[in-house]
Amino acid sequence: MFQGLSLEQAPPFSVPLRFFLTAPLMALLAGGLWLFAPTEQLVTRWSPVWLATTHLIVLGFMAMVMIGALFQMLPVVIGAPVARPRLFGGTVQVLWVAGVLSLANGFRWSVAELLTVGGVLLSLATVILVTVFLECFFRSRSAYATAVAMRWAVIALAIAVTVGLLLLGGHVGWWSLWRPLGTRLHIVWGLWGWVFLLIVGVSYQVIPMFYVTSPYPNWLKDLLAPLVVGMLALLSLVTWMEVQVGRPAYVAWSLALLIGGLALSCLSYAAITAARIRRRKRKIKDPTLRFWFLALGSASLAALGAVLFGLEGLVETFQSKTELTIGALAIWGGAVSVIQGMLFKIVPFLVWFHLHAHTTRHPTLLGKKVPHMKQILGDEVVRRQWWLHLGSLGIFVLSPWVHESLYHLGAGVVVAQALHQFWQLVRAARLEFKTRSQWEIEASAASK
Ligand code: HEM
Repeated sequence: MFQGLSLEQAPPFSVPLRFFLTAPLMALLAGGLWLFAPTEQLVTRWSPVWLATTHLIVLGFMAMVMIGALFQMLPVVIGAPVARPRLFGGTVQVLWVAGVLSLANGFRWSVAELLTVGGVLLSLATVILVTVFLECFFRSRSAYATAVAMRWAVIALAIAVTVGLLLLGGHVGWWSLWRPLGTRLHIVWGLWGWVFLLIVGVSYQVIPMFYVTSPYPNWLKDLLAPLVVGMLALLSLVTWMEVQVGRPAYVAWSLALLIGGLALSCLSYAAITAARIRRRKRKIKDPTLRFWFLALGSASLAALGAVLFGLEGLVETFQSKTELTIGALAIWGGAVSVIQGMLFKIVPFLVWFHLHAHTTRHPTLLGKKVPHMKQILGDEVVRRQWWLHLGSLGIFVLSPWVHESLYHLGAGVVVAQALHQFWQLVRAARLEFKTRSQWEIEASAASK
């Protein structure tokens, strides 16, 4: 487990923790918005409620955890820690939270000023974090597969945010809204570039480490990230051609091929990851694996859905319902599942890691018993969270087909799971704080 971990280089626990603790609160807000949303706003993905809740989830929950994980993992993975992590971590987090709240409220209540403030704050935060992270990559020059995938993910975030700002200008009324082609680019760079590639990069590191599997095959590690980025770049080019010449056969075919290629990359990754986990060396039951299987299954279905129906929906009938289902499978099923499962693995690991580091730094504490990960966050907590998450995903997938008011039930489950996750993470963090304080009291008593 210590492979590649350096006690000296790891950032203070508070740096990733502040991101990890804020994330469930953002999911809670999304749940609240869904709960009180008028049913007619839940029928189409273009409604103010969906735009607001989508960003509370993709930026407030998912990106929040992913940025915290980058602050934590960069020193480990590429040997180049972020300079002044407290300063940059704190600044990015405050700007990000304020930006997401402003953007989401701007969407929800259609207030141009809030959208503008949200756009400005999020751009500032993105410029800082992309500069800080790319500087680390530049310093390390690591060609390790995780580092390569992470570097592309950060670049993809910058592109997704830039296109997001162009779309925002359309909402505010500065220019005409670049919909749906701009929205397509925004979504693919955001979800396939930033989210998928970061999960891929992190999994190269954590799947073998946490679940004692054999490493991913070299060909996948060498090819996947550059291929995905290549296809995203070509997709952007074809989209630009579509703006110029419409959709003649060669454009339609190129689009279908590229979306097929992206889907295939996702399906291959899912199949290889699932096989690695099933054939793991130590068959210990670990409930966080349920989140992985759920994520791999949902993301594969979403990828197939994207191919079958095209991003704007090749079928006219059921278009809105299909889009909402694919979105739920990709975002709530694919990305949020992995992130929730990983939060319940990474936070207890960091509590253990920092307590352990504390005992090695202070000779008086040598021999102190450090609680192990399952004592910090038990399996029953993870199982409870998984059932809640499965419940909300099931309801979100069914709602468009049964009745939109069902979303309100799903929202209730989202609120419950967000509160549950927040409370359990706070408990784990408090354990680290209390144990360390207790040790310090004992050490100072002993030295008197
Ligand atoms: C500063 C950051 C961002 C801004 C300003 C922004 C802005 C926007 C805007 C204005 C739209 C509406 C597009 C339209 O009406 O056609 C939109 C849609 C969307 N954005 Fe973002 N976005 C940001 C970041 C992200 C990121 C990082 C992701 C993904 C990880 C993302 C995912 C989405 C999705 C999935 C939609 C489509 C929602 C739907 O169709 O229901 N956004 N974004």
